[in-house]
Amino acid sequence: MQNKLYKMESKNKQIFLKKVTRKDLEKIKNWRNSKGVWEFNTQYTLLNQFNQKQWYDELLINSSQKMFIIYNSQKKAIGICGFRDINSENKNADVSIILGDSKDRGKKLGTETLNLLVDYGFNKLNLHHISASIFSYNFKSIKVFEKMNFKLDAIMRDCIWRNGKWWDIYKYSVLSEEYKNKQNFEVIAVGNLILKAKLMNQN
Ligand SMILES: CC(C)(COP(=O)(O)OP(=O)(O)OC[C@H]1O[C@@H](n2cnc3c(N)ncnc32)[C@H](O)[C@@H]1OP(=O)(O)O)[C@@H](O)C(=O)NCCC(=O)NCCS
Repeated sequence: MQNKLYKMESKNKQIFLKKVTRKDLEKIKNWRNSKGVWEFNTQYTLLNQFNQKQWYDELLINSSQKMFIIYNSQKKAIGICGFRDINSENKNADVSIILGDSKDRGKKLGTETLNLLVDYGFNKLNLHHISASIFSYNFKSIKVFEKMNFKLDAIMRDCIWRNGKWWDIYKYSVLSEEYKNKQNFEVIAVGNLILKAKLMNQN
C-alpha cells in the first residue's frame, strides 16, 4: 500500500518512480560510487554497506527526505532521485537525480525524471521553492535544470575539491508559479538560441 502510494508514472510512460526499499541499498551504493556519478556528487569518500544502512535507517524516520528508485519502461531500476531538506513550514526542498548506468544517460530520462519530481513537489508536497546544487562542470545537468525553468540563484565559489582543483557549485531554483507558467510556453530552438514563445491558445 505504502509503495503504491509513492508510485508515479511519467506522462509518456518512459519512467516511473517508487519508494526506496532496503533491498535497493547495494545498487544505490554501486551507482553512487561509480565513475560518471561520484564526480558530480558532494560525498567525497566512497560509500560502504554500513553508511548506506545508516542512511536508509535515517530515511525511514526522517520526514525531510523522500527518495525514489527510477524504473524504465521495462521495469529495470536505472537510478535514484528525490527530495532532501524538505522544509514544510517554508515550503522548500532540494532535489537530486542520479542515473546509475551510463547507457541510460543522454536519452532524456533525466529530463523526464526532473519533470516528474518537480510536478510531485509542487502539486503533491505543496512546495513553493525547489532547489538544486550543481557542480560548475556538470554541463548536462545545468542544461536539464535550465530546460525545466530553474534559475541560477547563487554561485558558491571554490566549494568543492575534485581532480586536483577547486570548483564552484551553482545553486539553482524554480518557484511554483514559474513552473506553472512554463506550461503556457513553448520552447523554440533557433540556431543556438533557445526562445520561449507564449502558446497561441493561452489567454
Ligand atoms: C545529469 C543527468 C541526471 C541528466 O540526465 P540525462 O537523461 O543524461 O539527460 P537528458 O538526456 O535528459 O538531457 C541532457 C541535455 O544536456 C545536453 N547536453 C549533453 N551534453 C552536454 C554538454 N556537454 N554541454 C551542454 N549540454 C549538454 C543534451 O543535449 C540534452 O539537452 P537537450 O534535451 O536540449 O538535447 C544524468 O546524466 C546523470 O544522472 N548523470 C550522473 C549524475 C549527475 O550528474 N547527477 C546530477 C547531479 S546535479
